[in-house]
Amino acid sequence: MYKNKMVVLEAKENILITGGCGFIGSNFIRKYIGRNINIFNVDDLTYAGNLENLKEIEEKENYHFFKGKIQDKEFIKQILIENNIDSIINFAAESHVDRSIIDSAPFIETNIKGTSVLLDLTREFNIKKYVQVSTDEVYGSLGEIGKFTELTPISPNSPYSASKASADHLVMAYVHTYGINAMITRCSNNYGPFQFPEKLIPLMIMNALNNKELPVYGDGMNVRDWIHVDDHCSGIWAVYQNGKSGESYNIGSDTEKTNIEIVKLILNILGKPESLIKYVKDRPGHDRRYAMDSSKIQELLGWKAVINFDEGIKNTVEWYLNNLDWCNRIIDGSYMEYYNLQYGNN
Ligand code: NAD
Ligand code: TYD
Repeated sequence: MYKNKMVVLEAKENILITGGCGFIGSNFIRKYIGRNINIFNVDDLTYAGNLENLKEIEEKENYHFFKGKIQDKEFIKQILIENNIDSIINFAAESHVDRSIIDSAPFIETNIKGTSVLLDLTREFNIKKYVQVSTDEVYGSLGEIGKFTELTPISPNSPYSASKASADHLVMAYVHTYGINAMITRCSNNYGPFQFPEKLIPLMIMNALNNKELPVYGDGMNVRDWIHVDDHCSGIWAVYQNGKSGESYNIGSDTEKTNIEIVKLILNILGKPESLIKYVKDRPGHDRRYAMDSSKIQELLGWKAVINFDEGIKNTVEWYLNNLDWCNRIIDGSYMEYYNLQYGNN
């Protein structure tokens, strides 16, 4: 005999994820697609976005993909209306500092204009929650001591970080002026699977594997605070779930390393000689040191990074070794054009 049981079906949240085909967005979608949510991924598939990154989940009934630009207001508006979107997490961006030094225009378009369009639509359609995925680079550069807290003044130095800082200011202005429910995450340098091989760690892995020179900028003593992408994603999820409107949250894992330490570690894991290292002309305006104080998110939201760097980097190198096909498809003609422009004169 069956008992009468009241079944309360919780409505699934409809989340618009932007930039979900990039490095962090695709890791985020893979990690959270199993939850009771519908994901609507908008991505323009620039050089950094790749449908293959989400191949293993693309058939899931709660995953939907739309190709297009976040700054295309009519296009985004249609998606919001047709899919009854509850919330937005904005990962979409031009994300590489060196490219922003070559040409800042796409950074202004996507990172500033795109964010402003999403914020306008958040306001217009009473979107319940908006999360802006930002970076520690908005704080500028540190000297030898101290860490960035959420109270550190915003002081960006590169066209990339200036565009991200502008977007952050817009988010806070929309909270203050229109009362939208929005928050910002600011994370340190990520590493892990599916990172485009223009960034330090995958670039060095790929060059070492191909016995190509490893271009280290300046004296190699610039410091970055590394975090595994999976920890970054759980931090964004914590903020998405329990963050407070108008607040920003630093996400980091207390793993400061000089660039040269990272490069030597990769060579060591791969059993390649240090003679592959080539010191090249420094990046203009190169920020010297980043370090994050993430006690706020730890204390208020109970989040903590859990992946140990030595293990995380070994697994990452292994992932690239097991996914050379992916890398070789990504390293296409347009990438080589960029590569030659960036490194050709060194
Ligand atoms: P990524 O370059 O790997 O991916 C960006 C994605 O956005 C790509 O899929 C691209 O196709 C898409 N995109 C670009 N312009 C678009 C547009 N106009 N409309 C729609 N889609 C567009 O970047 P990532 O490393 O995954 O970074 C994701 C976010 O995290 C960015 O906002 C970045 O600023 C931030 N962040 C990155 C790091 C890091 O170490 N990579 C650290 C902190 C914060
Ligand atoms: P990158 O991965 O571009 O991240 P970001 O500039 O956003 O921190 O670079 C990380 C560090 O590595 C940065 O100090 C610049 C340095 N770097 C090199 O020395 N050589 C390279 O070829 C690249 C891409 C970066």
